[in-house]
Amino acid sequence: MYTTMSSSTTTTTSPSKPQFRNKLVSSLNDIFVFVGGAILALLLLWSFCSFVSPNSTITFNISSPTRPKPTKLVEPTNSETTPPMNCAQNELAHDPPDHTFYDDPTLTYTIDQKPIKNWDQKRQHWLAHHPSLAQPDRILLITGSQPGPCKSPVGDHLLLRFFKNKVDYCRIHGHDIFYNNALLHPKMTTFWAKLPAVRSAMVAHPEAEWIWWVDSDAAFTDMDFKLPLSRYANHNLIVHGWPNMVYEERSWVSLNAGVFLIRNSQWAMEFIHAWAGMGPQTPNYSQWSKTQKATLPDKLYPEADDQSGLIYLLLEENQKWADKIYLEHEFYFEGYWKEIVGSLRNVSDKYLEMERRSTAGGRG
Ligand SMILES: *[C@@H]1O[C@H](CO)[C@@H](O)[C@H](O)[C@H]1NC(C)=O
Ligand SMILES: *[C@@H]1O[C@H](CO)[C@@H](O)[C@H](O)[C@H]1NC(C)=O
Repeated sequence: MYTTMSSSTTTTTSPSKPQFRNKLVSSLNDIFVFVGGAILALLLLWSFCSFVSPNSTITFNISSPTRPKPTKLVEPTNSETTPPMNCAQNELAHDPPDHTFYDDPTLTYTIDQKPIKNWDQKRQHWLAHHPSLAQPDRILLITGSQPGPCKSPVGDHLLLRFFKNKVDYCRIHGHDIFYNNALLHPKMTTFWAKLPAVRSAMVAHPEAEWIWWVDSDAAFTDMDFKLPLSRYANHNLIVHGWPNMVYEERSWVSLNAGVFLIRNSQWAMEFIHAWAGMGPQTPNYSQWSKTQKATLPDKLYPEADDQSGLIYLLLEENQKWADKIYLEHEFYFEGYWKEIVGSLRNVSDKYLEMERRSTAGGRG
């Protein structure tokens, strides 16, 4: 069952090796220094395209009269008793009269406020009034970049290609996707910028059970990959990492915060509050920088960062958080491109084999 999972999901040029992460600190614009990895990811995409095109022609040709007609959103109204619109349209056309958390004037999307209280109940209440949006395990993928252009045009080109990769993945799997290029907290730049984006997405998308953060410089290398959500049923945060490196080596690269899945929940509200509490927007930032450095011996540079913050919370506030955090290490939920690249040949071969089988099956 897990054969697709043994191949990598996402590769990233993000930090997995301290010396690389170090470079990343200077500015978001520098994320494309690892052009090599990016190009490999792109080559894989192109190889997908090269076999998808002929197939799509075939699909077009075999469309038969027995194919179900496309569902119309608005059914013709022949009698008074026919409802003019389906449920989803009705819901979206006007706000239900019942009050939800959105009517609370103190509601805030910003990260530097206290966590929203009773968020699980508020979400459930909202979902009860928007039943057509309530699907189990609904996923919203969030990615993003800095607001301005990259220093080099190839950077902007690669941002586009990386985004297309994510859009395609989400399209195939029915996930929603949002690209955030606004700096939601002026002091939370570089890798800290993801936390305000995730926090506000939780409030703006109560329909999403999961928020899946994926760094802009990460690409899906297996477009068929499906998240094994059933094994995360009792967890609220899933991140790629190795427990022994976290708890025994206390290593800065024991996990990677560039890709994570977080459940839209009260737990996440509070966890993000604690996590962001180490960020550059707080008066405690310089103290946290020292604390993180003292906790993680192999951390190279002095400023507090989100990845070290996550490891710190696992180590030092273990009782409070760790039982809800799943360190995925049975497959590459996220991996450094150098570790992944050797396995891509086999992923491509698997898809080529599928294509051969489908043409041999008489469709061609
Ligand atoms: C800074 O640290 C103090 C002492 O631990 C704490 O009371 C305060 O809430 C922290 N401030 C922020 C903004 O996190
Ligand atoms: C690729 O597949 C072959 C044949 O199944 C296997 O022997 C090899 O270890 C795989 N390589 C990688 C890098 O997974």
